Amino acid sequence: MFFTVIGIGVFTYGALYTLLTCLADCDLELWLYEKFGKSPRRLKGKVVFITGASSGIGEYTAYALAKFGVKLTLSARRLNELKRVKTKCLELSKGQLEDKDILLLPMDVTDCASHKSQFSKAVSHFGKIDILLNNAGRSQRANWEEIELEVDKQLFDLNVFAVVNLTRVALEHFNATGEGHVAVVSSVAGVIGAPYSGTYTGSKHAIHGYFNSLRIENMRKNLHVTLLCPGPTFTNFLGEAFTGKAGEKLNSSVQETDKRMTAERCGYLNAVALVNKTQESWMGLFPIIPLIYVSVYFPVLFKLAVKVIGPQYLFKLRDSKTLDQNLHKD
Ligand SMILES: *[C@@H]1O[C@H](CO)[C@@H](O)[C@H](O)[C@H]1NC(C)=O
Ligand SMILES: *[C@@H]1O[C@H](CO)[C@@H](O)[C@H](O)[C@H]1NC(C)=O
Ligand SMILES: *[C@@H]1O[C@H](CO)[C@@H](O)[C@H](O)[C@H]1NC(C)=O
Ligand SMILES: *[C@@H]1O[C@H](CO)[C@@H](O)[C@H](O)[C@H]1NC(C)=O
Repeated sequence: MFFTVIGIGVFTYGALYTLLTCLADCDLELWLYEKFGKSPRRLKGKVVFITGASSGIGEYTAYALAKFGVKLTLSARRLNELKRVKTKCLELSKGQLEDKDILLLPMDVTDCASHKSQFSKAVSHFGKIDILLNNAGRSQRANWEEIELEVDKQLFDLNVFAVVNLTRVALEHFNATGEGHVAVVSSVAGVIGAPYSGTYTGSKHAIHGYFNSLRIENMRKNLHVTLLCPGPTFTNFLGEAFTGKAGEKLNSSVQETDKRMTAERCGYLNAVALVNKTQESWMGLFPIIPLIYVSVYFPVLFKLAVKVIGPQYLFKLRDSKTLDQNLHKD
């Protein structure tokens, strides 16, 4: 009788868990936090430094945070776009933020030599930075064999080394203030090997390595490290994405009919993850979440599944079209 009850308990737990991973658009820790955790309202008055804030996930995370009265440093290359984002942030904050609460920092994040002076500008404007959100980055679509080494280097300069260098600058500040929080917009490709996106996948895996080390080294200090891993979203990242050729842009775009999470939802989930200081959060529409769960908790099963579904179908899950359609437009 006792074991029957335990058995039923375990079975129910397993079934519920599986069902939830299929219904939720994020991992179950983040799902619980969204329902029962701290509201992003708690971040009100904090200062968040966002790179790549002029478009995509960076832009929409800025909107989500502005709604809760979070002060922002918005950085990206294009000042005009930053101004547009700032105007909308002020509007969305419904009076919680005024002009001086949003600082615009036009900068090229790959110009590492400027990191210290740029970061100092933000610190002297606000007196402190609470969270550094490394979001700037570019994706890639290419056949692995055809990628030029120059592309590997450029993509790592942007997605990895710029992030690492800026974070080191922020860590000096966090060490001085005695607390800090660094977050990176990684990707589902930081967890699973994404086909036809070799360098990008490598760069996101590198980010996980770097920041998991950082977290453990500082676990006794007041430093939090968050890896945000969105799946496919409705943002314009496919235009700027790298291919296999140096200097070439993909010029592709997402379609309304694609299966993707909205940038708004992704920005909001990022805010929930930040306020709850999660270590790693996954976001995406079905079947992205169960797929990551299987890959992490049942790797043998995952390998079998990949064998059955194959690289083309895996790619289609991500882009809602084939690599060929992406590389040669429609
Ligand atoms: C996140 O939310 C949970 C659920 O309410 C709360 O108990 C927890 O303290 C929060 N975690 C952090 C690190 O803020
Ligand atoms: C990293 O950032 C520091 C501070 O801005 C800068 O002095 C250094 O040159 C940067 N590293 C590289 C390789 O540019
Ligand atoms: C951090 O700050 C402490 C003193 O507050 C100092 O001794 C230490 O050298 C700093 N560490 C780094 C890496 O800057
Ligand atoms: C994207 O457009 C540019 C300029 O129009 C062109 O040179 C490049 O080859 C295009 N990229 C691809 C992958 O077709």
